[in-house]
Amino acid sequence: MIPTAEVSVSVLQSLSLRYDGSLWLLDQRLLPEEERWIDASAPEACVAAIQGLAVRGAPLIGVSAALCLAANAERGLSRAGLLSAAARLRAARPTAVNLMGAVDRVLAVIHAAPDDGLAEAVITEARALFTEDVALCAAMADHGAALIQDGEGILTHCNTGGLATAGIGTALGVIRRAHEQGKRLHVFVDETRPLLQGGRLTTWELQRLGVPYTLITDSMAALILRDGRAQRVLVGADRIARNGDFANKVGTYGLAALARFHGVPLYCVAPSTTVDPRCPDGAAIPIEARDPEEVRGARGQRWAPAEAPAENPAFDVTPASLVTAWVLETGVVWEGASVSGRPAPPLPRVM
Ligand code: MRU
Repeated sequence: MIPTAEVSVSVLQSLSLRYDGSLWLLDQRLLPEEERWIDASAPEACVAAIQGLAVRGAPLIGVSAALCLAANAERGLSRAGLLSAAARLRAARPTAVNLMGAVDRVLAVIHAAPDDGLAEAVITEARALFTEDVALCAAMADHGAALIQDGEGILTHCNTGGLATAGIGTALGVIRRAHEQGKRLHVFVDETRPLLQGGRLTTWELQRLGVPYTLITDSMAALILRDGRAQRVLVGADRIARNGDFANKVGTYGLAALARFHGVPLYCVAPSTTVDPRCPDGAAIPIEARDPEEVRGARGQRWAPAEAPAENPAFDVTPASLVTAWVLETGVVWEGASVSGRPAPPLPRVM
């Protein structure tokens, strides 16, 4: 059974993060074969873990960066040192606004706290970010699970579970909650090229939870939807713009277009910490470009010519017009409304 996130007086523990004054991360690059925890307390170690995807998922990279600052505050790092570490952590990956949001909250504390209360204030704020994310996940799971009916097939992309958050997850948290409610589900898991977050991580989580699933290649999703084997598509997000466009793992946009073509509802499940009110629409979301080598091969094996030109955007943007509803911790927002509370501008319909 997956241990749920819990908070004791001194230790924070989730599925893939532990904070005991030091920051420990389950190295997700090695899953599912090996469960190895790494010490990411040093700012450079945490930056490397975030950039190398040892820790990943929009909410979890924000919480990790914050707790890295807490670990360093606990070790007596100066205000200037904390400011410098925060800047490096904040810039580790560009797309997930949760990272900037979490670091900015700790930065505000670093700026404002008195010298004799600096460490305690930083630690308190970072711990609050962890516990808040646990609560956000639980609330999203409640709202989302209410949408799911007994006997449904659900298609999901990437990994959005306990490995991507401090709590039970976003889209996968909804699936977990519906399963715990006794609904009989079958999950179709996109393997999620090129880094296989679905094939390596979502399968690992579903296996441990005992949720029935079938792993598919991304290119099989069209058949699953055409044949009526999935009644809903549930995905997470790395940044949601004011008009509801959202960035998520590359492949989400294609999946959303396929879902619309086949009349299958698609839900974007994300906490309000993923909504960027400064971002008017999807065109303004910065998309991380990763090493093309990740597309030419994997885990030390290259199947394309070494010199093959390749592109590797880590995320794509799904227009709001393809979203049936956004499941936030505050409730379900249906297409046509605005996730940030401002009226959504009229959007061209795709179909
Ligand atoms: O590159 P990754 O693995 O960090 O990408 C993660 C995703 O795209 C998730 O779907 C997103 O962060 C939401 S997870 C709660």
